Amino acid sequence: MTAASTIQLLPDADGLGRAAQYLGQGGLVAFPTETVYGLGADARNDTAVARIYEAKGRPSFNPLIVHLADQPAAEALCHFSPAAQRLAAAFWPGALTMVLPFVAQAGISPLVTAGLDTLAVRVPDHEVARALLRSYGGPIAAPSANPSGRISPTTAQHVVDGLGGRIDAVVDGGACPVGVESTIVDCSGAAPVLLRAGGIPVEAIEACLGQTLLLPDEATPDRPTAPGQLASHYAPMGRVRLNAEVASPGEVMLGFGNVECSLNLSPSGDLLEAAAQLFGHLHRLDAMKAKQIAVSPIPDKGLGRAINDRLRRAAAPRD
Ligand code: TXA
Ligand code: MG
Repeated sequence: MTAASTIQLLPDADGLGRAAQYLGQGGLVAFPTETVYGLGADARNDTAVARIYEAKGRPSFNPLIVHLADQPAAEALCHFSPAAQRLAAAFWPGALTMVLPFVAQAGISPLVTAGLDTLAVRVPDHEVARALLRSYGGPIAAPSANPSGRISPTTAQHVVDGLGGRIDAVVDGGACPVGVESTIVDCSGAAPVLLRAGGIPVEAIEACLGQTLLLPDEATPDRPTAPGQLASHYAPMGRVRLNAEVASPGEVMLGFGNVECSLNLSPSGDLLEAAAQLFGHLHRLDAMKAKQIAVSPIPDKGLGRAINDRLRRAAAPRD
């Protein structure tokens, strides 16, 4: 493929039809979800799934989320515990991914699970994603549509900037409304475990279950630890300093609330707005060639937990 060969599709019947055609031929198609853009391939096609890893430059031990049109489609692939049933009823379609024991013989490529005996599934709440899943009619494996370790894309342009020429097509559905990835809960063991804070607040999940989610290091020792928790992730080009009240000389300030800054996640201090702005602002800081970035403190509650998780990864030491 040449750099120009990633086709931009409209989210209309023609565009979705062509997207489904690419998927059916083992191609890679990026599409919008309510959280971030996903890089989709048919989850049953080994070669197509391998191409995802190749296009992203992703370490092969990091498994993928399978996207489905509805809960019955997910139930054909995974065993749902009562807790999983309750979470699906409350939050699907939506920004919740569940890790569940998978049904052997369901035909999912082993490259999707990277050798684990569990599968991550979710039913996205985005008109374009749902229309594509319905028209395609099969399970779509989709990590976020960014080169591995880089910022997740929340617009079709972000996808083209990162992966243009490496993937067949991107369906342009505008900006993603939630802006951070899904919350991941491992429901495969006796007690549910929070693997990643994300678009559904942890508090809402705990209220639904009537119990506190365990953190991975509190979970039973025989449970495989969450893979892919690479320390440096979601990283802009510049160095990131967290919990900064003001910018030091030479720093570009990424603010939150009523602070002096170059870019503000939410001048009014609204965590929902900040989540939706987060990756766009990190992309903007790259476009500005910001070398040193100071970030305001973000309250660690609701969507703030997901934002802080991504910011800590952006600030982690890297090679
Ligand atoms: O919002 C989202 O979740 C987006 C959109 C496109 O749906 N997708 C996304 O995928 O963020 P990705 O691949 O960037 O992140 C998926 C995470 C990875 O950290 C991976 O390790 C974890 O899910 N994961 C996938 N399968 C797993 C499994 N069986 N057990 C534990 N963790 C798993
Ligand atoms: Mg990702």
